[in-house]
Amino acid sequence: MWKLKKSKYLLTLALIASMANIGLPKNNVAVFPYQNSSQSINTRVEDLLSRMTLEEKIGQLNQQSGWRGDNMLKQISQIKSGQVGSLLNVDPKDVNNLQKAAVEGSRLGIPLLIARDVIHGYRTIFPIPLGMAATFDTILVEKSARIAAIEAASDGIRWTFSPMVDISRNAHWGRIAESFGEDVYLSRKMGRAMIRGYQTDTLSNPTSIAACAKHFVGYGATEDGKDYNSTYIPERQMREIYLPPFKDACDAGVLTYMSAFNDNDGIPASGNRYLLTDVLRKEWGFDGFVVSDWGSIGEMVNHGFCKDSKSAAEQGFNAGVDMEMVSGLYSKHIEELLKEGKIKIEDVDNSVRSILKVKFLLGLFENPYTELPKNVFYSKDHLTTAYEMALKSAILLKNDGILPLKKDITILITGPMANAAHDQLGTWTLDGEKNHTITLLDAFRKQWGKDLNIIYEPGLTYSRSKSKESINNAVKAASKADVIISVIGEEAILSGEAHSLATLNLVGYQTELIDALSATGKPLVTVVMAGRPLAISKEVEKSDAVIYSFHPGTMGGAALSDIIMGKESPCGKTPVSFPKSSGQTPIYYSCKNTGRPASGSETLLYDIELEAGQTSLGCTNFWLDDGFGPLYPFGYGLSYGNFEYYDIKTDSHKYKKDDVIRVSARVKNTGKYKATDIAQLYIRDNYGSVTRPVKELKGICRVTLSPGESTTVNFEIPVSELAFYGVDMKYGVEAGKHMLGIGSDSTTPLNVDFEIE
Ligand code: NOJ
Repeated sequence: MWKLKKSKYLLTLALIASMANIGLPKNNVAVFPYQNSSQSINTRVEDLLSRMTLEEKIGQLNQQSGWRGDNMLKQISQIKSGQVGSLLNVDPKDVNNLQKAAVEGSRLGIPLLIARDVIHGYRTIFPIPLGMAATFDTILVEKSARIAAIEAASDGIRWTFSPMVDISRNAHWGRIAESFGEDVYLSRKMGRAMIRGYQTDTLSNPTSIAACAKHFVGYGATEDGKDYNSTYIPERQMREIYLPPFKDACDAGVLTYMSAFNDNDGIPASGNRYLLTDVLRKEWGFDGFVVSDWGSIGEMVNHGFCKDSKSAAEQGFNAGVDMEMVSGLYSKHIEELLKEGKIKIEDVDNSVRSILKVKFLLGLFENPYTELPKNVFYSKDHLTTAYEMALKSAILLKNDGILPLKKDITILITGPMANAAHDQLGTWTLDGEKNHTITLLDAFRKQWGKDLNIIYEPGLTYSRSKSKESINNAVKAASKADVIISVIGEEAILSGEAHSLATLNLVGYQTELIDALSATGKPLVTVVMAGRPLAISKEVEKSDAVIYSFHPGTMGGAALSDIIMGKESPCGKTPVSFPKSSGQTPIYYSCKNTGRPASGSETLLYDIELEAGQTSLGCTNFWLDDGFGPLYPFGYGLSYGNFEYYDIKTDSHKYKKDDVIRVSARVKNTGKYKATDIAQLYIRDNYGSVTRPVKELKGICRVTLSPGESTTVNFEIPVSELAFYGVDMKYGVEAGKHMLGIGSDSTTPLNVDFEIE
């Protein structure tokens, strides 16, 4: 009897509520199926969708930036009337208030999805993504993303615009800093690790945040390294190089994608229906949602792809961009476009479904507010992980034997990045605080002050400085020191979005500083902190040791000082090839052989005889001035140990297309220090129906050995990993001869043959 009465009562309530403001269930009593967490997500989505007005649906497709002051009241009123689905760049202090407007103030109580660029940490800042990639350590990268999520979620952020999985082979492009570098295999693994760290297996856990694979797609191939520039990526290259990390993101369950700014071969990424719908949704089965980049829908007018902003909204939406970031074009035009029959209500419903689904998955309907403790910021565990990552990302490029330094000496610490608390955090650190940074100078004073006599003289106060006077001061100070540690590089603002450089040399008078320090005759240890691989040939020549540290974050100084003093051995590897000069980039190891590969014995610029014969220099694929190879190859990095690889074997010489290739090698540390190396397995497909790269990374394995110790490293490579798009654009493995090799970097010789039948 009561059951009957109760259901009648609920029905009446439902009717009243559906006419007025429903909001979230009071006292956790679900009135409608969508409010009932025991219902399936699909049921909840469909039920909620069926109750939404068109305006509310369009509201879900609208992402606004947090508005301040009086505008905030306007924003709150828009949220209450269901016109906003998501916010980014909200002041954490306002998150709960804005969420309250959505949850308790709007008719259906649909929570907002609060987003932010949490790119390499939230408060505790890890090395920039390029530095993360230099660790070659997916477990650590996953842990850092977990920590970033825990800290960000405690401020109410449940969606980050990360990872950026754009393959980046051009150091001019400022956003190389945000990438995992040039290699497809490494970027795929790193992207997956970050997604796991952000989202975990339990999306509804209040510390899980939605990841966003960006920028879909090809953005890193910018024609000349200038940001936002056009790209020209043919389909085979798109599918073999640029799409795979995005496909892995999909397989890893990423909840969202962001469409890119660039136009590829004339079609803006935010209006590319083939890629956004045919490939992403239909081929890959992606069922989360796609957000545009900041204003990228409207920018299709600037591209000259759409005649006005209304047609841009039409093209972006119909291409497959579900949510529009900040320009409000969907809110402005979709209703009219529907009336005109230019877009379909079924498509609007599908986009809303995808967005609501993510909100349900994240448990936002049950836990819309931030109630997480704030004492997670800079917790001991977080700082220890940041230290570990800064340590593992530091790349020892050169060591004439000066490192590690001995104790009881006098050192001069100099250079514009030696005490740059803000700049060592790197690009995209909206929430990092420099007062928590440990600079190299701080660390030496605090951790090594008892063992060393430390002199500090900045030399240059910031990377672009052109002060000869301060260089002279550093030179004077050097006369009192046994060893000089010069920390140079670039300020955080010189890399990242919109911060491309035509010249990759050190800025300001840093080269002059290194020249002057080297002229003192004192041993010179150079540490470079930068957002990209700079062209540092000259500085390397003048230094006795060089450590490269892509902006290393909060704990950078602590990690670097421990490496310099030998408490830890360096083990970072270059995730990008280091160019000899600005003109030598784009440069990457997995290039094609060409018909005339360089032999290495070509005559270079200053060796050319006067009036030399036209064809006497060797007609091969090289630069007269820079030769063929980079300054440092991909995968390169020294340690304090010395690793030798031998006895490389495959378990067979012939494989079928569905076999697994098992490869092993012995590795020995013949050096004097316990150290770690990243064993790297490279494969080459000798010939195909289309040309294949000279080498491709197919496996990595971390190995830590004491002096004299040896071990076996094992790899298992499914033959399917050797598939590519043949001349007919069919994806598959082709029969034929291959070669492989295992070693410490991408120059490792490929001396083991095998065949695919
Ligand atoms: C523009 C950038 O391209 C993108 O990476 C970022 O996530 C958005 N702005 C939001 O800030």
